[in-house]
Amino acid sequence: MALEGKVALVTGAARWLGRGYAEAFAARGAAVIVADINAEGAEAVARDICNAGGRAAAVAVDVASESSVEAAFAEARKPFGEISILVNNAGGLFAPTQAAETFSLDQWSKAIAVNLTGSWLCARAAIPAMKAARWGRIINITSTTLDYGLPTEMAPYISSKGGVMGLTRALARELGRFDITVNAVAPGLIQPKVGREGRVSLSEEKLKSIFDLVIANQCIPRQGEVADLAGAVAFLASDDARFITGQVLNVDGGWALK
Ligand SMILES: NC(=O)c1ccc[n+]([C@@H]2O[C@H](COP(=O)([O-])OP(=O)(O)OC[C@H]3O[C@@H](n4cnc5c(N)ncnc54)[C@H](O)[C@@H]3O)[C@@H](O)[C@H]2O)c1
Repeated sequence: MALEGKVALVTGAARWLGRGYAEAFAARGAAVIVADINAEGAEAVARDICNAGGRAAAVAVDVASESSVEAAFAEARKPFGEISILVNNAGGLFAPTQAAETFSLDQWSKAIAVNLTGSWLCARAAIPAMKAARWGRIINITSTTLDYGLPTEMAPYISSKGGVMGLTRALARELGRFDITVNAVAPGLIQPKVGREGRVSLSEEKLKSIFDLVIANQCIPRQGEVADLAGAVAFLASDDARFITGQVLNVDGGWALK
């Protein structure tokens, strides 16, 4: 149980990848706070983890809102104590893919607010207790699209994820002396085939052409799954990864080679 005694807060954990991270932490002995703007979904995931024998609680949070993040962290401490592992996973495209010059300022701002500002606000809320404990893990979720553009246009998303890389490096430099590591994980293309509600819609044809392209460029030529990511995130949260900081780990079947 590599994460016994730790308390992990995962944002955007009401479904898909974030849910996978929360379950992986619970399976390794951590108590988990399932944090999401979708309060019902977060409750359901926390319930499922508890039913499977883990320890979990849900909090509602809009990571893009300063007051919501502060309230959520105050709430999150109550069931299991201070947060020792933070995964900044909440995020997404939030606008249909389109030519860079056609995005509205609102579409741009939403991607920056959730993906980048949200990661900073949550880190800001988590750092004081990690410093006091002289142990912490912050894992930010970026994207392989930062290195490899797709034939879809995602300027706000990719820009926000670039900012997340900058945040990762800035925090890693500052926090290493407190034994707090800060790393990023860059998932490749790991999209659900069903349950695509709330996702930016791409036509079946466009989605297939993107998958074909990405898989053809991966060393391991198959579609990635949630479990492929979860183990990597759990590793970075563990003591085994204590001397790794400021890095980006591409978990993409070898799509990005660098
Ligand atoms: N799925 C992929 O192929 C892929 C690839 C690269 C990077 N990523 C990144 O991984 C992360 C998760 O992706 P996913 O595919 O699981 O997304 P998803 O849309 O399935 O889940 C995102 C979760 O975040 C929550 N959320 C959205 N806005 C929020 C907010 N303001 N505050 C709190 N929670 C909020 C949603 O309710 C949802 O539960 C994102 O940061 C995404 O950019 C995903």
